[in-house]
Amino acid sequence: MSIDVSKLPELIRGKKAQIRRQIGDVEKVLAEIEADLHAEVDDIATRRAAGKPVIPEIDFAEVRAGKVSDATKAEIRRRGTAVIRNVFPRSQAEAWNDEIGEYLARNDYVTKAATRDAGDRYFTSLKSSRPQIFGIYWSKPQMEARQGVSMAEARAFLNRLWRFESDGKQHFDPDRECTYADRIRRREPGDVSLGLSPHMDAGSVERWLDPAYSQVYREVFAGNWRAYDPFDGTFRTETEEIPSPAVCSAFRTFQGWTALTRQGRGDGTLQLLPIARSIIYFLLRPMAKDVPEDDLCGAKPGRALSLVDQWHALLKPAITPIPLVEPGDTVWWHTDIIHAVEDRHTGKGYSNVIYIGAAPYCTKNAAYLQRQKLAFLSGESAPDFSAENFEVDFEGRAQADDLTALGKKQMGLAAW
Ligand SMILES: [Fe+2]
Repeated sequence: MSIDVSKLPELIRGKKAQIRRQIGDVEKVLAEIEADLHAEVDDIATRRAAGKPVIPEIDFAEVRAGKVSDATKAEIRRRGTAVIRNVFPRSQAEAWNDEIGEYLARNDYVTKAATRDAGDRYFTSLKSSRPQIFGIYWSKPQMEARQGVSMAEARAFLNRLWRFESDGKQHFDPDRECTYADRIRRREPGDVSLGLSPHMDAGSVERWLDPAYSQVYREVFAGNWRAYDPFDGTFRTETEEIPSPAVCSAFRTFQGWTALTRQGRGDGTLQLLPIARSIIYFLLRPMAKDVPEDDLCGAKPGRALSLVDQWHALLKPAITPIPLVEPGDTVWWHTDIIHAVEDRHTGKGYSNVIYIGAAPYCTKNAAYLQRQKLAFLSGESAPDFSAENFEVDFEGRAQADDLTALGKKQMGLAAW
């Protein structure tokens, strides 16, 4: 562990002093960043008001055919978000949705969950209460979706939006995937007050204090924020996160999910802040005079990094609901993108998803697979998550024999 949490205030003060030495006139640089982001936020709000799309959308057929234009790729890099439609046939996604429902019912998940203390402190600083997330990792539909050939192609496309080689070193292999087993969302219509306030995953104070993260953002901390490339993989696979239930310790180029039901604005589903470079503001806003010297605008170790109204109000109008998606469509957001889940589900149907991100092969992810595969074989919760271990005695969970040759490689159960 690279950060001594017991010395946090001291470490933060030291880091701020270092950044100030590097940047010089911090207030001037912050003003430039605010002007730049203000224009981007306005652009998004204007497009939305005019009914124009903000989050780039492509069809999986274009991805498979290698026909996504450079302009669209640039737009995805700018927005840090994408919808890839039809990664799976609708009928397949609907069948998975039914099968997951049966798996949960047969194993009496809801009763078991209600009687167990999850011990998941991760989201306690977020305003909303616990989301409608089920702590299952190993149902057959989840494994089938993860190992899908089309899913592998979609993820390779997304990984390749990054720079994965520099200075003669390959940071990750964009064409091989490590399965990062995550949970599912299954949200009933009418469900209220069960959202997630705007946050990003993959670390909080680490972004300032971990040596590799400091290198990821080296241009920002040096004041050369225009030179910062959110899609530069250098140092990204070397970061060390503070261990905590539900903090992602793998490297994901994009977080994402696959829709099992139709959902869009108002259906208690996802909202995104589609500005890839908005992380710059989170990194340097704490340097302003109005923020206490030992505070990083509310960043807390072992928690999500939140968008805080008091500090980050500038960005809030850019938060955009995802477009209407259908079963089999997928939604993706860069690992540094702020995302939220609506508090109220005012729609008519379930909004259900399987969380599947893109975690390309690298030393960091391969090491995680070694821990994760033991959890898979015993049915325990995936290692990054709260050890609820619901599925240990669940009937019908996926076994190693259910995996394809590709699925075994992605799970670290066979060599590439
Ligand atoms: Fe999240």
